[in-house]
Amino acid sequence: MSQALHPMLNIAIKAARAAGAIINRASLDLERLQVRTKAPNDFVTEVDHAAETAAIDTLLGAYPGHGILAEESGSSRGARDSEYVWVIDPLDGTTNFIHGLPTYAVSIALTFRHQVQQAVVYDPARNDLFYATRGRGAYLNDKRLRVSRRSRMADALIGTGFPFRKGDDLARYLHMMESVMKVCAGIRRPGAAALDLCYVAAGWYDGFFETGLSPWDVAAGSLLVTEAGGLIGNFTGEADFLDKREVVAGNPKIYAQLVQLLAPYTSIGRVPDVDAGG
Ligand code: IPD
Ligand code: CA
Ligand code: CA
Repeated sequence: MSQALHPMLNIAIKAARAAGAIINRASLDLERLQVRTKAPNDFVTEVDHAAETAAIDTLLGAYPGHGILAEESGSSRGARDSEYVWVIDPLDGTTNFIHGLPTYAVSIALTFRHQVQQAVVYDPARNDLFYATRGRGAYLNDKRLRVSRRSRMADALIGTGFPFRKGDDLARYLHMMESVMKVCAGIRRPGAAALDLCYVAAGWYDGFFETGLSPWDVAAGSLLVTEAGGLIGNFTGEADFLDKREVVAGNPKIYAQLVQLLAPYTSIGRVPDVDAGG
């Protein structure tokens, strides 16, 4: 990158690398890992907690007046009333990590008045650093990223995430997956949503969709996508997706076609079925 990095991005990178170092060290001895089940199929380890603490210590060390929204500790640290909030997933892809499958990342975004300004997604297994500052482009290490140019769904590789929590509407997901699968070139489910969005930014995927994600899964990756020339939104194509638990992203052509396919499955404003089961 030719320009100097924004100072807040520099701190985010330092925080992500601190968390990544903890994750890398722990990955050398997975046998010792203590795994706790938050809910069926939803796991957390002491590594998630230690990585989160290291990231927050770094961020608040530099910006003690900022707020925090982190997956494991919520808003218990940091200022409550700041317009700056760091949105953190210390280990996105915990299930992969537990199994030694090296597809996971640290995801850190800085929002100002609810808009993502800085973003870092760090893949510690590959030492790959995806980052973006609003208005300054998206990068992988020092290479500028651009979304793909494919325009035909028939050529498109689409990333997704499968529902896995008790009470998720699997039937509804399978319908939407079928409608995408029938018309695209292939579907992938690596297991770390923050990286999935970076893969859209890098042009490796042409599009991505998932339901049930939280702000810390998608905040950083969303800026990577838009700064690489892509689009991201909810299933009806509106910009309001961060806490809506449905997200679609892609290069502009594929995004538009995914929105057409997925709009019927939006749950925004939908009254839940009485027997939806949680
Ligand atoms: C999970 C990953 C996964 C997605 C899940 C997320 P975690 O995050 O991003 O790809 O399908 O919905 O919860 O729990 O490993 O941080
Ligand atoms: Ca996550
Ligand atoms: Ca996580």
